[in-house]
Parts: sequence; C-alpha cells; structure tokens
Amino acid sequence: MLVPKVLYFSICRKILRNFVLFWYIIEINKVRVIGKGAGKRMTYSMEKLSEEKVFKDPVHRYVHVQDRAIWDLVGTKEFQRLRRIKQLGTTFLTFHGAEHSRFNHSLGVYEIVRRMIDDVFDGREEWNAGDRLLTLCAALLHDLGHGPFSHAFEKVFDFDHEDFTRAIILGDTEVNKVLNHVGPGFPEKVAEVIAKTSEKKLVVSMISSQIDADRMDYLQRDAYFTGVSYGQFDMERILRVMRPREEQVVIKKSGMHAVEDYIMSRYQMYWQVYFHPVSRSAEVILTKILHRAKQLFKENYAFKHEPHHFVSFFCENVTLEDYLKLDEAVILYYFQIWQEEDDSILRDLCCRFVNRNLFKYAEFDPAKEYKKLAQLNTLFIKAGIDPDYYLVVDSSSDLPYDFYRPGEEEERLPIHLLMENGELRELSRESEIVDAISGKRRTDHKLYYPADLLADESTGADIKSQIRDLLE
Ligand code: NI
Repeated sequence: MLVPKVLYFSICRKILRNFVLFWYIIEINKVRVIGKGAGKRMTYSMEKLSEEKVFKDPVHRYVHVQDRAIWDLVGTKEFQRLRRIKQLGTTFLTFHGAEHSRFNHSLGVYEIVRRMIDDVFDGREEWNAGDRLLTLCAALLHDLGHGPFSHAFEKVFDFDHEDFTRAIILGDTEVNKVLNHVGPGFPEKVAEVIAKTSEKKLVVSMISSQIDADRMDYLQRDAYFTGVSYGQFDMERILRVMRPREEQVVIKKSGMHAVEDYIMSRYQMYWQVYFHPVSRSAEVILTKILHRAKQLFKENYAFKHEPHHFVSFFCENVTLEDYLKLDEAVILYYFQIWQEEDDSILRDLCCRFVNRNLFKYAEFDPAKEYKKLAQLNTLFIKAGIDPDYYLVVDSSSDLPYDFYRPGEEEERLPIHLLMENGELRELSRESEIVDAISGKRRTDHKLYYPADLLADESTGADIKSQIRDLLE
C-alpha cells in the first residue's frame, strides 16, 4: 500500500524532531554533568556545608565547622586516629582526669584560629582573606604526625613526629586526597605552614609562636582535664586585642596584662603538670620497656607473642603504614601481654606500668653528684639490679618566654605590643613581670629508682642498705 505523501512527510518530520529532541537532551545532560564536575573542582575550596556542624567542647563550648574541606578532613582515618592518642601521654597516672586526646586538642586549635580569622581579622587590610582555608587546615592538622606516647617513642626510636606530619599530608593518605581536592600544591602549602618554612609568616605565627592558638588551646585544655587552676587566662581578651601584621600577630598594648597572665599560666603548667615528677617516672618506665623490647628483639629473644607491630620500629625501617597502625591501644595491649614474658626485666617493667607501681625519685645535681652516680651504678650491679633499666637520671627544662636572640639554636620570634602611636615594642621591655622570667631557662634533674626492690632484703641486704643510705 502506498503511503500518502502528506503522511510520509509528517512521519519524517516526527522522526527528525524526536531525533533533535533526543540529541538536545543528551547534550544538555552532558553540560550539566560537566558543569557539576567543573563547578565542584572550582569551588571546593569555598564550598560551605548546607548546615553548620558543631562539636560540643568543654573548653570552647562549641567548635564550629562551616567549610566542606574541614569537615572532610575531620572524617579521614588519619585524623580519627588522633582519638586514640592521649594529649598528655603518661600524665593520666598522676592526674587521673588527663585522658583527653590529640583529637580534642586539634579541634580546639582549629576553633581558636577560626575565631581569630572570622571574629577579629576578617575585613582588616593586613589580613589576606585568601589564606583562610590554608590557616584552618594547618591548625587542624598541626599535630597529625604524633604517635603513641610521642615523647618516649621519639627518644627510643629516634624520629621526629613532625616528619610524620609531613609524610601524612603529602603521602598516599585520605588527608592528602582532601587537600589535593582544594587545589594543586595545596598539601605542600599546608605542610610548609606546619613546618614553619612557609613564606606566609603571619599564618605561621597564628599556629606556632610564643603566643599562638596551639599553646592557648593546650594550656586551657590540659588545665581543664587535669583539674588544676594554673592554666587559666583570659583568652577572650587576648583574641580581641590581636592584630594581623605582615610578619606576625601583634597584641594591642591595652591587652598586655592578659598576655602576662597567659605567660605566667604557661610557666606554672610546665612545672606543676607537664614536668610533674610522677608522670616522668611513668615515662621513664615506658621508655625502658621499649628499650628492653628492642634489645631482646636484637638478641633474637623468643617472645611468647611476636611483637608484629614493633618489628619495623626495632629494625629501623618504619613505613608510614606501620606508623599509622600503632596507637596507644596497641601499645598498652603489648604491655599487658609482656607481663607474662620470661625475661624478668621486660615482665617487671610492664607490670609496673600497667599497675602503676612507679619508680621513686631523688633530687640530683649531675654537676656535683656524678661520683655518687658511679658508686650507685656499681652497687646496683652487685645487688643484681641492672642499672641500665633501674637507675635513671631524667632532666626537664623550660624557657617560659624569650626575646629575640639571633643565631641561637632555637630562634624565637618575640611577642610584640602594638603601641598607641602605631609602633611595635617587644613585650619584656614593657612588662616587668615578663622581664623577670625572660630568657631564664629552668632545668630540673631527678634520679629514678625502684624503692620496692631496694627495700626487699631477702637478697643482698647489706648492699641494698648501702644504696638506700646513698639515695637518702
Ligand atoms: Ni598542638
């Protein structure tokens, strides 16, 4: 049957129209898809969450997150790992409340920096609004490389947590993926701020200087969780009087007394909390456990349970993957099972740590008492107590504030006051209180020993009594 000409044209037109429509829909969708991808890439650095997220915080009340990138960083497994690392290492054995983590502290530092920017710096000529996300990311991630019981660990295995912070930010990690999403070269910029090698001096000074968000958070947080009253100072006041300058954050002269209070609180916290002799005793034992385990491993000692997590540390070929697997839960697990080891030193030290049966201590002056130390060493050997593990000198030292001393091993940027006439003056020139402690390093040495073993007179009673006489 012949199709009438009119109908034939009508069908052709329909097919053509449908084809055009179909093609149009495909193209429109392509544009949408491309647009979505490109838009995301272009604006991820500026993307805000549809609703602000808040973390309840005992120190700052709330930690506010509006930026998508910050929220994504908090969710990475490398950042979540910080929940399993305590902020104050062995201090919980002295101040039982000190169980807070590096996760808490990192969020706190982020929040202080966010408030500096959003509440005080924003809109000021000297502040570059383009540095906001860089500063927030560096604040959040500044302690990312801390390992379990950092201090003792770094001593025994001879590495620096700052190298691991850098490795996590730049390596094949979830954190690196988020930072890369912000823009090419962004992970490197964040790492440079944390390493203090960035040319953005103002940004660096907000996170690490003699008055920075890091210290302002840990002083208040550690005071809160230990329950001491020393670490308190008026941070609200300090934030209000901070002003951005090209090289660093400066403080308006009217805020000087709040800064004095902050410096004194730091001074007090160091001696009352951070260098507490009992926490140091626990740290001495922890260090010796790690030394002993490493020594036994090198001697091919047959552990009842293979210390898998430690092997690359003992062999000094730690990969980033090994490092990230080790947290305080893992370490404490090994201390538990090592209480059943055949090696009496490892077993004893682990029992001491787990059950808080710590070493006692005596004041010690290394300059005057080195002969006494040599004598004690000999007597310990005679008594059958290995002095390498049971007679330990531990030193702590702090410099609460220092003015600028060019060429010194640790050059510190001093705190500058912004005077009413616009001049800058170094803090200790204006403040008598700060001047009194400026540049004064205080060092404290203690000698640690196991009083219980020395009191046990079932063996070597005579020698042990000589040791006790020397120690007392
Ligand atoms: Ni910190």
